[in-house]
Amino acid sequence: MKTIRPFVLINMAMSADGKIAPAHRRFVSFGSRRDHANLLSLRATADAVMCGARTVDSAPVTLDAGGPEYERRRLRGGLARQNLRIVVSGSGSVDPEAAVFRNQVSPVIVLASSQVPKSRLAKLERLADCVKVCGKNKVALGQALGWLQREWAVNRLLCEGGGELNFELLRLGLVDELHLTICPRIIGGRDAPTIADGDGFATLAKAANLELTRRLRLGDELFTTWRVKPKSG
Ligand SMILES: NC(=O)c1ccc[n+]([C@@H]2O[C@H](COP(=O)([O-])OP(=O)(O)OC[C@H]3O[C@@H](n4cnc5c(N)ncnc54)[C@H](OP(=O)(O)O)[C@@H]3O)[C@@H](O)[C@H]2O)c1
Repeated sequence: MKTIRPFVLINMAMSADGKIAPAHRRFVSFGSRRDHANLLSLRATADAVMCGARTVDSAPVTLDAGGPEYERRRLRGGLARQNLRIVVSGSGSVDPEAAVFRNQVSPVIVLASSQVPKSRLAKLERLADCVKVCGKNKVALGQALGWLQREWAVNRLLCEGGGELNFELLRLGLVDELHLTICPRIIGGRDAPTIADGDGFATLAKAANLELTRRLRLGDELFTTWRVKPKSG
């Protein structure tokens, strides 16, 4: 039986050599203002925005709607003024000082697994509006997405990385669309993160397959959209 879940989009900015950050993994903004506006426009179509714990730790990201213009767009589109914000942190290692917890524009939901020690769970419960324990060793993302749709009316979910979370979603066949901005830089570094890290697909037969549905060159950046083909079998 197919699990009912939100439509899932991933949006990432990538260097021409396929990296999403330097090897030190601290946040570096290498996309243009247009790329940032593109990100906020996509957010304005989503009920919720989701990130992995290391993305939330690596930068002062608040994951909010991005200002009055985008809030108005959301309202015109029949969405709440602000999107829900979701942090995936299986072991509960997310930094309690992260900016996302200090900004209180909309509920923050932490998806965790039963690996989280009790004391850490209690701390997270004080920080976030909701902590959902879902899965034993990892967050059972399919189950969590179904729960988000049922309990929080999330019909359209934008994932903004990083590579670990993206790969897990792709591995599980939970991604419908990929928005990728290819930026005119080479970052290099064998340990620099990419749009999909994790363990990788063992064979090409298991890889996620894409169809290019849109491409737009603005300056030296290429804005692309890819449909993720459903896994067969
Ligand atoms: N260029 C861009 O568009 C862009 C966008 C986003 C991020 N970034 C960069 O990407 C880097 C961060 O990416 P990353 O790949 O290192 O980390 P990430 O995907 O942001 O976060 C990884 C963490 O998320 C949790 N997680 C992910 N999937 C899980 C699952 N199925 N079950 C349980 N927990 C799960 C785990 O947290 P626990 O350890 O707590 O279990 C894991 O350690 C940073 O350098 C950031 O600046 C770039």
